[in-house]
Amino acid sequence: MSAPTERGQQRSNNILLIGFRGCGKSSIGARLATRLDRSLFDTDTLVESRAGKTIREIFAEDGEPAFRTLEREAIESLQDDTDHVISVGGGAVLREDNRAQLRALGTCIWLSAPADELLRRTLADPRNAETRPPLTPLDAETEFRTLLAAREPLYAALADHVIDTSGHSLDEVVERIMTVLRIHETPDRP
Ligand code: S3P
Repeated sequence: MSAPTERGQQRSNNILLIGFRGCGKSSIGARLATRLDRSLFDTDTLVESRAGKTIREIFAEDGEPAFRTLEREAIESLQDDTDHVISVGGGAVLREDNRAQLRALGTCIWLSAPADELLRRTLADPRNAETRPPLTPLDAETEFRTLLAAREPLYAALADHVIDTSGHSLDEVVERIMTVLRIHETPDRP
């Protein structure tokens, strides 16, 4: 299903979660997909399965530009998909072609939080060390502050809705998303 946007493009009916590392895209995406009985796609998972290695390995062995090319291909591969919840890697918004396609894929929800909270959550994630490559030579706190400041205008420009996740549980954020989308769960069928 698709509908014209204010910008005149056809737009699919996916729900896209965008935002920086630690904003909860994967966990919230999984809960939202369950609530809505939709499939969840995660661009990082698509990249890893296409490459046959982890994102950390891609960064270490092939470099960030190679990862960004794979990420672009993963996003392109979604162009005919509908009815999904899509969790989008935090740096995908850096490319204008990605942003245009993400906009056409559906409603974009930016899960926002301040840099110190994003860093705290990321460091508390036990998968962090093995899955997330460093993105700069900076210390983690400076990296989060610097990259978040550079990316926030891109998230803001893409977002149809901004959800402040700061201090909220995953379930509270899911409820807020359901409210802003005015989506109501399908009643149980007999
Ligand atoms: C990246 C974020 C990661 C992953 C890659 C690059 C980034 O995804 O795509 O490590 O540039 O911020 P998450 O946002 O899911 O951690």
